Amino acid sequence: MSMGWSLWVMFLVVLNMGISLFLFLWGPRAKIPSQPDQTTGHAWAHGTIREGLRPLPRWWLLLSGSMFIGGIGYLVLYPGFGNHKGLLHWTSHGQLAKAVAANDAKLDPLLQRFDLYSVEQLAGDPEAQQMGQRLFDDNCAACHGRNAHGNQALGAPNLTDNDWLYGGSGKDITTSIHDGRGGVMPPWASLGEQTVKNLAQYVLSLSGEPHDAKMAAAAEPIFKGTCAACHGADGKGTQALGAPNLTDHIWLHGGSLADIEKTIHDGRQGHMPNWDKRLSDDDIHVLAAYVYHVSHPDVGAQ
Ligand code: HEC
Ligand code: HEC
Repeated sequence: MSMGWSLWVMFLVVLNMGISLFLFLWGPRAKIPSQPDQTTGHAWAHGTIREGLRPLPRWWLLLSGSMFIGGIGYLVLYPGFGNHKGLLHWTSHGQLAKAVAANDAKLDPLLQRFDLYSVEQLAGDPEAQQMGQRLFDDNCAACHGRNAHGNQALGAPNLTDNDWLYGGSGKDITTSIHDGRGGVMPPWASLGEQTVKNLAQYVLSLSGEPHDAKMAAAAEPIFKGTCAACHGADGKGTQALGAPNLTDHIWLHGGSLADIEKTIHDGRQGHMPNWDKRLSDDDIHVLAAYVYHVSHPDVGAQ
């Protein structure tokens, strides 16, 4: 507050308190001419209401007096009298900082400890596993299943097999949870029914499943020309696109001939929601550690 404003506020405070004090002191002493019947002589409503003269009740005087003194005390202790800071040096910023500090102290000290570790390190911590399991049951199990084994009907991958659409490092898993993921396998019905059937045989051949070699051979150039852009020339997938490895016997949308033909014919889309709006960064950190733990059960406490 500038000096001018400070002086103005001080002036207003002194003026108001002065007027109150004056009324206090003057009120009881003031001589108001009165009639013999203890009224002022003012009458309303044809004389049915007359203005009486009574001393102020004692309780009212005491209450007002103590509030007046309390007001002065407040202005001495707290800010309010212009730029005077108050003897207690109270500030609203200080009050907020205190409240925040008290809240932080109450916050689970566990989370503060977890912050010190990487996802990979935290995965070995039994307390983090417990907290992660609770968060997983609440938020993730609906799609990925209670045991995180996934759900083919939803295209939600098994998270325990250490086979990753988008990468299995602590950082990749954290990104998957924080930002969400959406893999798009386009539909290829336009290539023709026969080509789709041939391609399905070729996909089966990639993982060494029983297949029709002639049909697969017929599809090979199409795979190399069309599908390899995402799944790679060797069919091992591209994590940057979430295009799955087709050689590993692990199927996001089912590995039967009918499933694979349907995938190629109609396309597939997976939607992993983003959790950055619904969960705190600390929660996501613990969840990533939990996912890392269930996919690396051999990682011991460190
Ligand atoms: C609405 C269903 C749904 C929910 C809820 C869900 N997910 Fe997913 N999640 C998916 C789908 C579908 C994918 C695959 C995305 C794709 O195909 O591109 C996926 C992918 C992932 C991946 C990437 C896996 C990989 O192989 O790279 C991780 C990690 C993951 N989810 C963890 C979680 C965690 C942790 C939670 C809870 C906070 C969660 N998900 C909640 C549906 C879900
Ligand atoms: C634009 C990139 C892209 C192209 C091109 C593409 N795919 Fe895919 N494909 C994907 C993605 C992404 C997925 C995973 C979809 C999901 O996340 O649910 C997928 C999934 C699949 C799957 C299911 C795998 C499983 O584990 O269930 C098969 C089979 C497949 N693709 C075969 C093909 C064939 C055959 C072609 C060529 C005709 C092809 N894809 C072309 C991106 C592509």
